This record gives sequence, C-alpha cells and structure tokens, in this order.
Amino acid sequence: MPLRWRLALLFALGTAFVIATAGLLFLQQLTAGLNNSLDSTLRMRADAEVARLASARPLPPLPPPPPSESRDRGQQEGQHGQSPGSDDITQVLARDGTVLATTDPAGRQPLADTTQRWAAPHAPVRFTTTVEGEKYRMLAVPARLGAQPVLVVVGTGSHLVEEATARTSTALWIAGPPAVVLAGLGAYALTGSALRPVERMRRRLADISEHDTTARLPLPSTRDEIATLAITMNAVLDRLAQALARERSFIADAGHELRTPLTTLKAELELARRPGRPHHALVDAITAAADDTDRLIRLAEDLLVLARADEGHAFLRTAPTAPADILTRAVHAASARAHPRGVRLNLHADAQVRIVADPDRLRQAVDNLLDNALRHSPDGAVIDVTLSTPHGPGADVAVIEVRDHGPGFPPAFLPLAFERFRRADAARARAGGGAGLGLAIVRSIAEAHGGSVVADNPEGGGARVRLELPLAPGPPA
Ligand SMILES: Nc1ncnc2c1ncn2[C@@H]1O[C@H](COP(=O)(O)OP(=O)(O)O)[C@@H](O)[C@H]1O
Ligand SMILES: [Mg+2]
Repeated sequence: MPLRWRLALLFALGTAFVIATAGLLFLQQLTAGLNNSLDSTLRMRADAEVARLASARPLPPLPPPPPSESRDRGQQEGQHGQSPGSDDITQVLARDGTVLATTDPAGRQPLADTTQRWAAPHAPVRFTTTVEGEKYRMLAVPARLGAQPVLVVVGTGSHLVEEATARTSTALWIAGPPAVVLAGLGAYALTGSALRPVERMRRRLADISEHDTTARLPLPSTRDEIATLAITMNAVLDRLAQALARERSFIADAGHELRTPLTTLKAELELARRPGRPHHALVDAITAAADDTDRLIRLAEDLLVLARADEGHAFLRTAPTAPADILTRAVHAASARAHPRGVRLNLHADAQVRIVADPDRLRQAVDNLLDNALRHSPDGAVIDVTLSTPHGPGADVAVIEVRDHGPGFPPAFLPLAFERFRRADAARARAGGGAGLGLAIVRSIAEAHGGSVVADNPEGGGARVRLELPLAPGPPA
C-alpha cells in the first residue's frame, strides 16, 4: 500500500480511537456527575423524611390508591404533605415490605425488594427501578416511626440523565465519523504535498544517467528533512561524479603511459623485421624491446597495486614488523646501484620500533623513495635514511624519512607530488623510466596502513619525504 494511503488510514484510525475514548470518558463523567447531583438531592429528601417521621405520631392510615392514569397531571401527594417535583416518589415501608405510606406514582407495591430491604437498615442502599415504564434512581434509608423501625425509600426520575447521555452520544455519532473522514483526508492531502518533492527527486534521479553527471536534484524550498535529503544526495552525486572523473582520467593516463612504450616496442620490432639487418642490429633491437617490455611490466604492476590499494586496508597482508629490518635490506640493495656513482646511503634506524604492516608493501614504498632519491642525487652525494619515533604527545607513530641532496622538488610541484601520473619534468623523467606513479603508490600504501606521507625541501637543500605509520599497540614502556 502506498505510504500516502497508509498514513491516511493511520490518521483516520487514530482519530476514531481518540474520539471514541474521549467520548466514552465524557459520557461516563457526565452520567456520574448527573447521578451524583440526583443522589445528593435524594439524600436530602430522605433525611427530611426521616426527621419528619421521627417527630410524627403514629401514621395516619394510607390514602386510597390513587387513580393511576396519566402522571402528567402532577404529583398526587400522599398524606405526607410534601411537595416534591413531578418526578419524585416516596414510600415508607415496614421491614416486611408493607407499604405504610406512598406518593401517587409509586403505587402500592413496595419499591424496594427483599434484598434491598434487608440491606437498608445497615447502610443506605442506592438502586434503580422502573415504575410505570419510567426509570427512577432510588435511595432507601432506615428510619423510625415512633418505636417501629421503618424504611424511607425516595426516588427521582432519571430520564434527564438518560436524555443528556443520549443527546451527547447522538452528537458524538453525528460529529465523529465526519471528523474521522476529515482526519484521513487531511493526512492524505498533507502527505501528498510533503511527498511531491520526493517524487520529483525520484524522477530526476532516474533521469540522471551515467553520462549526465552534471545534473543535480532540485532543492525543495522547504527547509525540512526532504531538503536535507536532497542536499545529501547532491553531495553524493558530486562525490560520485568526482570519482568517475578520477577514474576516467586514470584510465586515460594509463592508456597514454602504455601507448608510449608499446609504440617504441612496435617500431623496434618493425625495424628488426626489415630484411638484410646485420646480426648486431638485431641484438640491439631485441635488447631495446626487452627494456620496453620491462617498463610495460613495471607499469602494469604499478597500476595493479594502485587499483588494489583503492580497497584500503583489505589489500594488505599485515604482520608485526620491524621497519628497521626492511630499511636495512632496502638500503643494502640501493647501495649496490648507488656505488658506481659514488652515492652513499646513511641509515639511522631504531631497531626497537614495531609496527603492524605488510612487509612487502612497505618495502615497495621504501624502494620507490630510495629510487627517487638515487635518481635525483648528484654523483658523490649522501642520502640519509632514518627511522625514529618522535617524543611527546600523540607520538604513537613510526617515522621513516628519506632525504637526498639533489635539487629538491620544484616548489610548485610539491602539492601535486603524490598524485597519480604526476611528474615535475615529464620529458626528463621518462628517460629515467618513471610514469609518475612512484609517490602515488607510496601514499596509497601509507594510507592503507592508516598512516600518511608528506614531502618537502628542507633547509640545506635536497628533497625529503616523511612517511608516518602507526606504531603497533604494545605493552606500555
Ligand atoms: N627526491 C626527489 N627530488 C626531486 N624531485 C623528485 C624527487 N622524488 C620525486 N620527485 C619528483 O616527483 C615526480 C614524481 O615522482 P614519482 O611519483 O616517484 O614518479 P616517477 O619516479 O615515476 O617520476 C618525479 O617525476 C620527480 O619530478
Ligand atoms: Mg619514482
């Protein structure tokens, strides 16, 4: 069932329930209030009668039975001489039920039955009875007629109470159902207007196709939850569009990077295919082709790592790791390449530091940093590699720094250094073999570990890259 119908039904049912409950309570209170006032009148009349009987000498004989026609002619008095209203009846009964005195409409039958006559001497008894088709509210109290214990039974017509309740319930029956229908209709109209922007948003969302990434949801003029939803949805669409744009440019860049070595590879192979090529030229062509293939493989591996790093932590196979060991091995391997150029690598590593990391990925990140440092170091320069844990508050990180003494990062390039396919000098870097993915991979690996990486040009020249990784939770020092 549509939400609109459900809400309308709910409102109608709720209103019906409220009206019914309130109506019943009101009727109950009304009846109780009217009966209370009848009761207090009865009480006063009974008290007066009791007092009158106490002072009376033996009762005069009962009057002859009244002509029992219409009661409209008014109250035919008993010999008690009182003047009650037309609905009032009074009887004086002996304990055995003999009617000693009675007012006209009460007739000669005792108004109180045996049970009531038995109970009345102990406490006043309230009851209702019907006389000549009229309902009466009755009160029986003990009294004395000289030495004789008697009962005074007074009653008053309760048709006013019934009329009042009947009129009230009629009013409720007349007004209730339309109120219920109105509540339902109101809820239906209200939810309709509240949901209209939702329907508009739904239609627009359905329209926003994969290629129409610029379209956004219309913002309703109301400042309610639906407007907030539209704002949030637009933010999600923005993020999706950005992600899509990033993805597309990544694929475009990757395609571009792949095309260059593939083109040279093809050219070299074309050249080698030409008839009459001397043997050494063939060997040269095949060597060059093998180099290009290596570059392609490296590029494919880098792209794979980046794609998988987008999964975050899930692509890591972490274990408690001593980064000092990894740095030692990486520096050792790099030293072999640095040696011919007289470049020296200095390692200062705190062997106590433990982190939870994927050793292979961490090594890859360090290798990328050392590779850059080596490439940008002038011959005979020194590269400093340190592993430390900074002191002070919030210092639960391991810091790996690689610093060279080359030209440093071009300042304008620093903010972009960790983006994919970014190179400060594309033409020169390509000769060195980089596609601009090295630092991007370092950042992906750092972030997958819950860490971060920054680059700067420290005083004294050169470039510095600082990799921060969270320390392994260990026993407090
Ligand atoms: N130690 C460094 N000194 C100066 N420039 C650097 C250094 N490391 C990286 N860069 C600059 O940052 C760019 C991006 O580096 P990187 O992501 O490793 O890509 P790649 O090594 O493939 O060129 C490099 O092309 C280079 O211009
Ligand atoms: Mg690099």
